[in-house]
Amino acid sequence: MRTHYCGEVTESLIGQEITVCGWVHRRRDHGGVIFIDLRDREGLLQVVYDPDIEDVFATAESVRSEYVLQVKGLVRERPEGTINEKLASGQVEVLGKELTILNTAQTPPFMLDIADGEVSEELRLKYRYIDLRRESMQKRMRMRSEIVRILRNNLDGQGFLDMETPMLTKATPEGARDYLVPSRTHANSFFALPQSPQLFKQLLMMSGMDRYYQIVRCFRDEDLRADRQPEFTQLDIETSFLDEEQIMAMTEDMMREVYSKVLNVELPNPFPRMPYDEAMSRFGSDKPDLRIPLELVDIADLLKDVEFKVFSGPANDEKGRVAALRLPQGSKLSRKDIDDYTKFVGIYGARGLAYIKVNELAKGRDGLQSPILKFLPDEAITGIMERTGAEDGDLIFFGADRAKIVNEALGALRVKLGEDLELMQEEWAPLWVVDFPMFEWDDNANRWQSLHHPFTSPRESDLDLLESDPGNCYSRAYDMVINGTEVGGGSMRIYREEVQKNVFRALGISDEEASEKFGFLLDALKYGCPPHGGIAFGLDRLVMLISGAESIRDVMAFPKTQSASCLLTQAPSEVSEAQLRELHIKLRKPVAKEEE
Ligand code: AMO
Ligand code: AMP
Repeated sequence: MRTHYCGEVTESLIGQEITVCGWVHRRRDHGGVIFIDLRDREGLLQVVYDPDIEDVFATAESVRSEYVLQVKGLVRERPEGTINEKLASGQVEVLGKELTILNTAQTPPFMLDIADGEVSEELRLKYRYIDLRRESMQKRMRMRSEIVRILRNNLDGQGFLDMETPMLTKATPEGARDYLVPSRTHANSFFALPQSPQLFKQLLMMSGMDRYYQIVRCFRDEDLRADRQPEFTQLDIETSFLDEEQIMAMTEDMMREVYSKVLNVELPNPFPRMPYDEAMSRFGSDKPDLRIPLELVDIADLLKDVEFKVFSGPANDEKGRVAALRLPQGSKLSRKDIDDYTKFVGIYGARGLAYIKVNELAKGRDGLQSPILKFLPDEAITGIMERTGAEDGDLIFFGADRAKIVNEALGALRVKLGEDLELMQEEWAPLWVVDFPMFEWDDNANRWQSLHHPFTSPRESDLDLLESDPGNCYSRAYDMVINGTEVGGGSMRIYREEVQKNVFRALGISDEEASEKFGFLLDALKYGCPPHGGIAFGLDRLVMLISGAESIRDVMAFPKTQSASCLLTQAPSEVSEAQLRELHIKLRKPVAKEEE
């Protein structure tokens, strides 16, 4: 049907007859001449119709936006002054000789030359097939495909086997709710869609596959955010007989290759590493954005005896934290800015956001400005100024509460300040976060939870702590973080049955429950399991980062909304009584009621 893509037609084709196909991006009538910008995957091409050939001209007059055309014509140089530097085909145009309307189109619900934010996302998602025609979406989809190709080539080249694992399976605990699928053939039983292929990839190592990867869909029913989707894609990797150093080196190389090929950016070699405890203490986060030159400092020891209960309370509480965040030259923030930031930290449970403006340090107390100054003795103030390295013109924020809240609130505030005040120092800041604790205490469930997943190996030297002091037991896990986004996470796995059982026990999972849920894994560990480990990268997140997209939805062809629905197909939707009956399901709420 065609000889060339529109975007490929350049000077080298001048004088040639070509045939192109595409969509009408724009049609302009100019003093008896019709210009059609024809668009396909590769770009735009200007086609000109003169009135000489009457019937063709009449057809050209009848076309509208998004009609699908086949155009035959002669490539010629554009007249001087009409050259468009922005287009690959901008030096030339096609003098249209023939024109076939392959299909008509209704007026699209939005224009295709708009920027991402110019039309509501609901409309874009409902008409995704039109939205995907837009240049920015086309670019991101191609970049995604390019990234996948580089990742595959890299792993194929290193002898990895691309293997599939089941979608209809048993629950794998990755910390989210499962999506369940009822079984017709087994009444009252359900499959779970995988939150990740974790256990299967471990079983593949036990099967002697040695090196596995898969670009695989994962399903997690959790609260959605800008960088989370209920179904998303992982680049999932597992290896036998390699240790964490080798796995990190290998995947770091792969990431450097992606950045170098896609963005022409050379990431550092090696990536810096930071222990989890240090990341939490300095940045309040296990995925610190190292582009932002702001740090939290602990000041609890300076405030144990002050009258101000907001500070002394957490300062004397084992689970508490009192931290300061110095913002250089921050005293220019207005009262309203500070109120807004106070509201912002409220999202993370902070009950306030105390601050001190440092006007003139040399004047001591009189050179400072703050609603909490009156509650603090001189030594505490001097101590804070020294500890934070305060200088004239700075502003110091404070967080005092349970450590978890302070970390989340000040950690998020740090990132927000970095963005609002444009403090980012370099373009790309990758790192590995390492030395994670095995467990974190869950106040609600009143038990230890895995920080990664229950198949993560404890450090060899900490095996004894599993029983005696789980809180101080560290794991062999590692996360790759780029610009404050966790792009990947992995670990060395448990490969001895006894250790796996002990970890289940530490998690409050009884032997009985363990054998019911993970009996197949415990069995497999008895039959010659090699030492193994791996990692999984969030492909969507990675593409989002590299493409500079604001939302994960902008790098997925058919994403779900914040409430986990698909506006294009209207899924999820009701099903017939007959289908439910086959699945042995009776609804709690009659269908009619739910609609009200
Ligand atoms: P984890 O749960 O850390 O590890 O997931 C790996 C990576 O997947 C991405 N990710 C997501 N992306 C989009 N939407 C989501 N809802 C979502 N959840 C996670 C993140 C994350 O780093 N089985 C382990 C890996 C292993 O141990 O090998 C796992 O799934 O970028
Ligand atoms: P109050 O005495 O509650 O008016 O608080 C005095 C100042 O301390 C205000 O600026 C509050 O925003 C701040 N503040 C209150 N609670 C906290 C907290 N938990 N952490 C940090 N600052 C707080």
